[in-house]
Amino acid sequence: MSNDAYTLAKDAAAALKGAAGVDTFDVALVMGSGWVPAADALGQTVAEVPFTGLPGFAPPAVAGHGGKIRVVRTSAGRHALILLGRTHLYEGQPVDKVVHGIRTAAAAGVRAVVLTNAAGGLRPETQNVGDPVLISDHINMTGANPLTGTTFLDLTEVYSKRLRALVRAADPSIAEGVYCAFRGPTYETPAEIRMLRTLGGDLIGMSTVLEAIAAREAGLEVLGISLVTNPGAGLVGEPLNHEEVLEVGKTTAARMGGLLAKVVDSL
Ligand code: 6GU
Repeated sequence: MSNDAYTLAKDAAAALKGAAGVDTFDVALVMGSGWVPAADALGQTVAEVPFTGLPGFAPPAVAGHGGKIRVVRTSAGRHALILLGRTHLYEGQPVDKVVHGIRTAAAAGVRAVVLTNAAGGLRPETQNVGDPVLISDHINMTGANPLTGTTFLDLTEVYSKRLRALVRAADPSIAEGVYCAFRGPTYETPAEIRMLRTLGGDLIGMSTVLEAIAAREAGLEVLGISLVTNPGAGLVGEPLNHEEVLEVGKTTAARMGGLLAKVVDSL
């Protein structure tokens, strides 16, 4: 990472602390598509700051539809940063913009991040639409890396075993799987989906892996949870659309919100 990216993250963290009147944060959560309705279960909103009001964040892909950071106080008195919206490679943004929210959260003092996403399921034999799946590991097929130009980093345990155990304690029925990421914005072809199944993937999406790497570089514990919104292309024969991805989130908001609330207070 360039010094510039570090400096921008520090500046954004300082602006966020000032706007919220809070100076220590415990955890950050990135709410992927389908997860935003679950954010309301996490606690009392202390402040909301649009990305456009903070240094270093990419401009919104769609004018007027930018993301924001909600500062929440949980019932147990923890302070959480909730990123409502994220920047993706498929918007044409560079990797430093994609991980800026994570670096900002790290600069703001969080020790853990919860990365959520909507994903295609590669194992319809065992997965149902609407199921949450704990990410146990990932396959980064984006061709990008937030550490380009810096140094080596061990990725033996990107997704914390300790945090996964906390989630399983809260929801013993939850499955685990390997999350694969392409840069999009197209969904995959049936041949690509078969390839990912052969490689040991269980979930496919367009986010999370770069944020997870940036979080590990910053020394944060990472928890990843996918919401399965549809089977991968060709597995059941129906074409994919973004509306169904958002729709699934509405119907599962209560379960996902309850799960996240328990996890955040047990971190
Ligand atoms: Cl099938 N593919 C990708 N890349 N992202 C998704 C998806 C599929 N379903 C939801 N998000």
